[in-house]
Amino acid sequence: MSIRAENLCKHYQVGGVTVRALDGISLDIEDGEYVTIVGTSGSGKSTLMNILGCLDTPTAGRYFLDEREVGLLADKELSEIRSRRIGFIFQSFNLISGLTALENVELPLLYRKIPKRKRGDIALAALESMGLSDRALHRPTELSGGQQQRVAIARAIAADPQMILADEPCGNLDSRSGAEVLDILETLNKDGKTIVMITHNEDTAKKAQRLVRISDGRLIQ
Ligand SMILES: Nc1ncnc2c1ncn2[C@@H]1O[C@H](COP(=O)(O)OP(=O)(O)OP(=O)(O)O)[C@@H](O)[C@H]1O
Ligand SMILES: [Mg+2]
Repeated sequence: MSIRAENLCKHYQVGGVTVRALDGISLDIEDGEYVTIVGTSGSGKSTLMNILGCLDTPTAGRYFLDEREVGLLADKELSEIRSRRIGFIFQSFNLISGLTALENVELPLLYRKIPKRKRGDIALAALESMGLSDRALHRPTELSGGQQQRVAIARAIAADPQMILADEPCGNLDSRSGAEVLDILETLNKDGKTIVMITHNEDTAKKAQRLVRISDGRLIQ
């Protein structure tokens, strides 16, 4: 999946002051690339990621996914892109605490109206690929942080998306679990998936083919 951002801005008006969370970001990412976005806290990383994932819209600028302008797509197409073509991974895992690992992974498949039997098969295979088949019936609180993040990755890849967006996926993990997650992302990229990962850790950032720096809502060349 290819990305083209042209002069993206996200400005907020807060108490009469304009916050320029993004201030003219232009960025091209080719299909199959692995890119990390690095920047300090408040530099605009998550804001950018949310726009790239079609979870948020820019206040100015244009955004294209596979050469199609996202701002012109109908809601139905947008939700289709979010649920089938993009997998999201977050720093805080964002698993649903009342559901088992298996049910968490099944959830996006449920939204896609895949029949129950098939849903279970796909979800179990995704958990298995993360080395978690023996944890399928555990709830998030019964799993370690690294295991929870691997459940979240299984959930992100279950629908076989073309692109993975990861916002600080190792931020809450010890170094060993973090390294595991990075290995998984590298493998997914070798399998052809476009990966965009946010981090403020320079060593983590170097794992990618390309590193993009952001500061005060702008890219630093
Ligand atoms: N809804 C909002 N209203 C006003 N300002 C906002 C809003 N969301 C974000 N901001 C501001 O935009 C800037 C960028 O925020 P963002 O969350 O993208 O930073 P970040 O790089 O992801 O930081 P972190 O590393 O701490 O997660 C910050 O200055 C933040 O205060
Ligand atoms: Mg952030």
